[in-house]
Amino acid sequence: MKEIVLSGIRSTGNLHIGNYFGALRNFIRMQDENNCFFFIADLHSLTTHPDPENFHENIKTVLAEYLASGLDPEKSVIFVQSMVPEVSELYTLMNMWSYVGELERTSSFKEKVRKHPNNVNAGLLTYPVLMATDILIHKANKVPVGKDQEQHLEMARVFARRFNNMYNVEFFPEPSAYSFGTELVKIPGLDGTGKMGKSEGNGIYLADDGKTIRKKVMRAVTDSGPADADAPMSEPVQNLFTILQTVSDSEVVQFYKDKYKSGEIRYGDMKKQLADDICKVTLPIRERILEIKGNDKYLSETVKYGAEKARASASKTLAGVKEIMGFKWF
Ligand code: TRP
Repeated sequence: MKEIVLSGIRSTGNLHIGNYFGALRNFIRMQDENNCFFFIADLHSLTTHPDPENFHENIKTVLAEYLASGLDPEKSVIFVQSMVPEVSELYTLMNMWSYVGELERTSSFKEKVRKHPNNVNAGLLTYPVLMATDILIHKANKVPVGKDQEQHLEMARVFARRFNNMYNVEFFPEPSAYSFGTELVKIPGLDGTGKMGKSEGNGIYLADDGKTIRKKVMRAVTDSGPADADAPMSEPVQNLFTILQTVSDSEVVQFYKDKYKSGEIRYGDMKKQLADDICKVTLPIRERILEIKGNDKYLSETVKYGAEKARASASKTLAGVKEIMGFKWF
């Protein structure tokens, strides 16, 4: 049987190649094997009070980048959270069986309180309730999540179980984590250590043009050359090889590995090759991003189409919940 897989996408920031070669490529593959829901969690992003212009622009950017990368509105349900009002209605109901104590103990909430003591709004406290609503409203079985979202997913399971027990029904399935396992590639940043991230300034973005990509790659941290053939490779150089392995043909990778071993490697040459091969992958995507972003009609049709499909699924669940709870006049 096909699984119902659901993933919420943050509407902040542009996608970098770490996102693309990591989760995104798995999403694209998953579309053929499962019933997938992908949505932009715009309501969630309101906790930080974005300026209305940026708010809209960011949603558009993220949507265009995902579509350009290969998320397919015909294969998957691709939608914007706020265009499915059933989510907000179920969220109201879900708040009745989530407890302030457990919400206050959530790590992400405690971290936000520590970091932004002047903006501890109720939306932040109930963030996990809204996220659980996103998941349960489509009765999703599998949710691909990173480490930082595991606790939220666990809470969704708790809320599902609690509802089922409270009303003595088997209504909500308990969602579990979708694990990419070994297929999830972790792309390191260009600054020598750690992975590519949005805030670190060490990334190459799908929206970068060729000149920017070349400049960034040429500036990537390396070392002063292989000490001797048997010494372990330094982390910055290892990182460049990891990216090379992801974007280049295996002969190319082998060529530079051999050059490294024989001590003849010229990092400048390897970087030129790396930049070329990154461009080969990302520049066609960049072109599609620009094309899609300039096509408001296509974007608005796509989100309406997605919202229609998402609402059909959401309203069914909501009606079921309301019936169980004893609403009689809807
Ligand atoms: N909280 C998630 C994040 O920050 C985004 C999200 C919202 C989500 N609703 C979701 C993820 C439902 C998975 C399922 O990344």
